[in-house]
Amino acid sequence: MKKKLSIIWGIVLMLTVILAACGTPEEKGSDTETNKEEEKKTLRVVTDAAYAPMEYQDKGEVVGFDIDFVKAVAEEAGYELEIEHVGWDPIFVEIGGNRADLAVSSITINDDRKQTYDFSVPYFQSTNKILVPEGSDIKSAEDLKGKKVAVQNGTTGQMAMDALLGKNHEDIKKFEDNNLAIMEMESGGADAVVADNMIVEEYAKNNPDKNLTVVEDGTFESEFYGVLFPKDSELVDEVNTAINAILANGTYSEIYQKWFGNEPNIEVLKE
Ligand code: ARG
Repeated sequence: MKKKLSIIWGIVLMLTVILAACGTPEEKGSDTETNKEEEKKTLRVVTDAAYAPMEYQDKGEVVGFDIDFVKAVAEEAGYELEIEHVGWDPIFVEIGGNRADLAVSSITINDDRKQTYDFSVPYFQSTNKILVPEGSDIKSAEDLKGKKVAVQNGTTGQMAMDALLGKNHEDIKKFEDNNLAIMEMESGGADAVVADNMIVEEYAKNNPDKNLTVVEDGTFESEFYGVLFPKDSELVDEVNTAINAILANGTYSEIYQKWFGNEPNIEVLKE
């Protein structure tokens, strides 16, 4: 009786071992797949989310054209993203110190920045424009002479004003965030704000009660935004390939349509 029992237990044990062994390959297979998903490398992206509609915060979330754009690029290149609003000046500190992998923040590609950082291919065309209260006598950049102009510190808007009024001119009021520059004008501390066209146009349109007008001036240069990287980043080529892919496959146009309601001019980015 004892012997029979131990034989039965032996068989039960063997069967358990065999069944367990059979189960393993399948489980292993699915395990590797999930691991692959998890293994997608996460890139740290920094931005100054105070530049609607390009990058801004909505209910605690960072959103905007640039955000959808960089997500599509990451998807194409096979990366996960962790996007963080750090502010404008900190972007350059984070990227310069290699603490972030890339930055998207309507950052204009220029020679000065290229000396310290790397850029992707251009992904967006822009130019500075002047935001003024309706009825203002400012009708051109030239008219800004003798007026107080609010700009975001360290932007091409500031550089344009340095060139027009003189570097560190007391009439140039610099703010760490573009929304603060706009508030300065609204509270009467400045006569105009100079910033990227998409931002001032969107602001004037979304705040009809504030009665603002946007003034264009042909002397403001055409600019192109690029993704910013630490110098010699290995990601530049991969990101460029992904940008070119989403420009070619319609994904970029879809995102552009969603935010601006019309077709982008992709040709201008290739020049
Ligand atoms: N395009 C301008 C520049 O590169 C302004 C960008 C400001 N971006 C921002 N998210 N505040 O200087």
